[in-house]
Formats: sequence, C-alpha cells, structure tokens
Amino acid sequence: MQIKKIGVIGAGQMGNGIAHVLSLGGYNVLLNDINKDILNKASLNIESNLERQVNSKKISSEESLEALKLINYTVSIEDFNDVDLVIEAATEDEPTKQKILSSLLPHIQDHTILTSNTSSISITRLASCTDRPEKFMGFHFMNPVPVMQLVELIKGIATNQDTYESCLQVVEKLGKTAASAEDFPAFIVNRILMPMINEAVYALYEGVGSIESIDTSMKLGANHPMGPLELADFIGLDTCLAIMNVLHDGLADTKYRPCPLLTKYVEAGWLGRKTKRGFYDYSGEKPVPSR
Ligand code: CAA
Repeated sequence: MQIKKIGVIGAGQMGNGIAHVLSLGGYNVLLNDINKDILNKASLNIESNLERQVNSKKISSEESLEALKLINYTVSIEDFNDVDLVIEAATEDEPTKQKILSSLLPHIQDHTILTSNTSSISITRLASCTDRPEKFMGFHFMNPVPVMQLVELIKGIATNQDTYESCLQVVEKLGKTAASAEDFPAFIVNRILMPMINEAVYALYEGVGSIESIDTSMKLGANHPMGPLELADFIGLDTCLAIMNVLHDGLADTKYRPCPLLTKYVEAGWLGRKTKRGFYDYSGEKPVPSR
C-alpha cells in the first residue's frame, strides 16, 4: 500500500519529533493533541529543531520550509478521515492508549494502518481493542527522533505481512534503519537499556558511586554518549519506571524490580529534564546533581 498521509497522535517530545522526520521524508502529516498549548509548543519545537539541522548543514533551508508546509495541526481526531497510517505517540499508559485507539476507529478508513510508538506495552493487547488487529503494529522511534537512526518494528500476534512491509517502506523513506522485534515486554532496546539504567540507580542507592562518578564511568569507560542517570533524566524518570514495571509484571522475574530510589524520585515529581529536576537539577546554566 502506498502511504501518503500520516496522522500522529500526541504532540509531546516523541510526537513532535516523529512529525518532524515524517515531513522531511515527504509525507503529509497531521499532528493531533487534545491540548492546543502542546500543539503550539510542538510547532515551535519542530521549527527550532529543523533550524538546528539547517545550521549544521544536514538539510537545506528549502527542505526545512517544504517540511514545515507538510505539517498540519489539529485538536480533533475526526480529521484523521483521510490518513493512510496512524502513529499513536500519547503517554505511556495503557488505558489512555486504548481509549485513544477506540475513539479513533469511527473516523478512519478501512485501509488505514494503526501503529503505536509504545516503548513497552504489548502490541497484541493494544491491537485487540481495535477492529483491525491484522493492520496494527508497533512503530517505535528513539529519542531524539531527528537524530537517532533506529526504529523498532514490532508485529503483534495477528499483524499481517502487508502491514509490516508498508511500515518498513516508511522507515526506509525516512532514511532510518528498522530492527524487527517480537512482541515481548519492552521489545529489544528497552529490554536491555532499562535494566542498565535501573542498575545505575541501584549503584547510586547503595552508595557504590555518586551521580557524577556513575555517569563519568559509563561515558568514559564504556563510550556511551550520555551516562545512565543523565540518560534517565533525558528519557523521563516516569517513563523509565513505567517500563521497569512492564518488564517486572510481564516477565515475572525479580531481576526487573524497579529500584526504590527511582520510585521515590517519581513520587517526588522529579521526572528529569521535563520538570527541570531529576538526578540533575536543570534550573541553572549547567546541570548539577540534585542531591
Ligand atoms: N532535533 C534535531 N537535531 C538535534 C536534536 C533534535 N531534537 N537534538 C540534537 N540534535 C543534533 C544537534 O543539533 C547536533 O547536531 P550537529 O552534530 O550536526 O551539530 C547533534 O544532534 C548533537 O547534539 P548536541 O551537540 O546538542 O549534543 P550531544 O553531542 O551531546 O548529543 C545526543 C546529544 C544526540 C542526544 C547524544 O547525547 C546521544 O546520542 N545521547 C543518547 C541518546 C539515546 O540513547 N537515546 C535513546 C533513548 S532510549 C529511547 O528513546 C527508547 C525509549 O523508548 C525510552
């Protein structure tokens, strides 16, 4: 199937990055959020991130202008009546995602493929609350979307090959690389990445090292671009905790138990960069450990 127009649900950190790369790939994009302020913020973010790419000569200013013209914004899900593919990128909360998917069904065409950018929730379970499990799959981008090369493609138990091929074509048109993962909790990237981040929080909790020494160790000792605690703040500590809970519940193995310190930070509302405080405090010019 030829995909021309793509609807993205949720204009937060992931949704606006997804709209950005889809428009650069030449797709017509409809970016939806229930919150008008979030849509306005997304449009400013997309503009400034495209500008970064123009400044570093990754794209031309003409390409940036063309991309901006391809994105439309809407608070109304009824406008998804002519999209060929939907990428749901709302909060990582299963009841919220199920509610959004159900509310979408009366407005989309029969051929429309539904996907979710979920980082950990069962694709098979999400598909089962739609009228088209064979046309449903996981389409998981990494953050920051314009920079990261990988997209995980996850088939649910009922996903058909045509759906997979159509999504693969989109990934290739974006110039990104797909990796297919089976539908098990947290798929591949987060199955491996989150236990590492959780272990770093345990190392802090047990006093093995300070925030700075843990991050410096992994940056300089394992050549990671960010230390695990810095990365946790970047992803969002609530998201990290939600993914650890999905692993713990879904695989029933105590090795995935979330570190109590991670839970405590989330309970305090210290969610990382987005709240200006997580393992680091971002209120000053340079991030400093928050305790
Ligand atoms: N849009 C466009 N360009 C962006 C951007 C964005 N949102 N963010 C960064 N960039 C560009 C910058 O403009 C810069 O470009 P040039 O090199 O051409 O100048 C380049 O990316 C590097 O950025 P910076 O110089 O600002 O900073 P940096 O060198 O420290 O790199 C980083 C920043 C790319 C985020 C790097 O630190 C990194 O790769 N970190 C690890 C990110 C990671 O692991 N992501 C996966 C998270 S897991 C996930 O997403 C899965 C999940 O479900 C939770």
